[in-house]
Amino acid sequence: MSVFLGIDIGTSGTKTLAVREDGEIIASAVAEYPLYTPRPGWSEQQPDDWWLATVSSVQHVLKSGRIKPGDVRGIGLSGQMHGSVFLDREGHVIRPALLWNDQRTAAECAEIEERAGGRRKLIGMVANPALTGFTAPKILWLRNHEPKHYDRLRQILLPKDYVRFRLTGEFATEVSDASGTLLLDVKRRAWSQALLDKLEIDRGLLPQVYESEEVSGRLGATAAEALGLTVGVPVVGGGGDQAASAVGNGIVRRGVISATMGTSGVMFAHSDDVQIDPEGRVHTFCHAVRGKWHVMGCVLSAGGSLQWYRNQLGHCEAATARAMNVDPYELLSQEAAAAPPGSEGLFFLPYLTGERTPHADPNARGAWIGLSLRHGKAHLVRSVMEGATFAMRDCLEIIQGMGVPVKEIRLSGGGARGRVWRQMQADIYGQKVSVINASEGPAYGVALLAAVGAGAYRNVVEACDATIRVVETTPTDAKARRAYDAAHPIYQQLYRSLRADFATIAKHVEG
Ligand code: XUL
Repeated sequence: MSVFLGIDIGTSGTKTLAVREDGEIIASAVAEYPLYTPRPGWSEQQPDDWWLATVSSVQHVLKSGRIKPGDVRGIGLSGQMHGSVFLDREGHVIRPALLWNDQRTAAECAEIEERAGGRRKLIGMVANPALTGFTAPKILWLRNHEPKHYDRLRQILLPKDYVRFRLTGEFATEVSDASGTLLLDVKRRAWSQALLDKLEIDRGLLPQVYESEEVSGRLGATAAEALGLTVGVPVVGGGGDQAASAVGNGIVRRGVISATMGTSGVMFAHSDDVQIDPEGRVHTFCHAVRGKWHVMGCVLSAGGSLQWYRNQLGHCEAATARAMNVDPYELLSQEAAAAPPGSEGLFFLPYLTGERTPHADPNARGAWIGLSLRHGKAHLVRSVMEGATFAMRDCLEIIQGMGVPVKEIRLSGGGARGRVWRQMQADIYGQKVSVINASEGPAYGVALLAAVGAGAYRNVVEACDATIRVVETTPTDAKARRAYDAAHPIYQQLYRSLRADFATIAKHVEG
């Protein structure tokens, strides 16, 4: 039997999947770790926690799937994008990693634009503008704020690539994740020497770039022993979690788009050539499919908004769910279904951690607007789900506005699980939505990439065609669709009305 391991270094935990050559999932395991917020807007993790979680989840999968070490023919890595792992000469971690949702680098983003000769020139070099979550501003932050750490810096890795280093001893990355550093010439799929020069960052600090299904190294002896695997298993490039998830959802052709509601929400479109939003509102990155690209919009707190609601205001539902042994989100969805589409004029802005697409505004904050005595918990929870979905529609409209065809929208993540949110997405996107047989996201996608790298399939498209199919479709409800079409422009106006106030609040909080 040939087995491929897909390992996804997520924000809340690492998930490992063991997948058979025919795409059948044999076993899966998750190992969690903490996230640290030493200051408001900061978001950090310990890279060693990712490694420990990798070891324990792989061990667990091998045991529960009764997989013989010799059966594992390839490993694929995926992970949260944009994080910065700073290593010294000995390969030791210098300080905790700054994550994708860290917002401390507004000044460094301005510095990058200035050094690049302006926003347009920057987009010309790396296809994207400087955003606080991206890696390059984090590197400049280290140089500006922790110069002693910067002096010791010898290698900069993305989260999954740190785990690759522990597995193989290689400093390597691949095109999809490297795109999110803001240092890759996305068109040429290679580091942008032009921008590195302007930022005065040494190319030697960056790892070698591979295509996603290419073998980037082989399992070393120490790692093999820790994991319970054999030495020499090939480790392929893999993908940033969004590109990997897209492969896992079969988003490998023009016209098929995915809408993923995890903590963040991502609208992701495959593209055959480099398509750039001149305003830089959506990202243009390399796809995990050789010679292809993708366009994506990222909402920072999509499912994260509902998670916040559950943690802060959903104690009763959570307790009932525990007693009934059901998913608390299912109870919250049932509650939401008791309010009508549009929540009777109650709007929720989901900017709990600032926003990336479309506003690129670290100061943006969440809000309920339109509250009246008539509104109850059903409206509150429904409006949260609607606000997150309106934010996703913002992304979809930009992508469509760039001329990217949208023939099919596939849902994944938490937002795909319940009937209520699926229907809401169909009605807000104004288009039927579907779900597929594999709902395991990035870990599944990189297990497929590992299968391609090991020669089980000729290419990524062939691997997806052999393993992924649509299992359910939700059509739109005409009445709800009309209600949402009327409400969405109001939702959009609310941010414009509040933008200056958000900046004032941020200054006020900073004191
Ligand atoms: C993508 C992004 C997030 C993280 C965490 O640009 O920032 O999706 O990768 O999942």
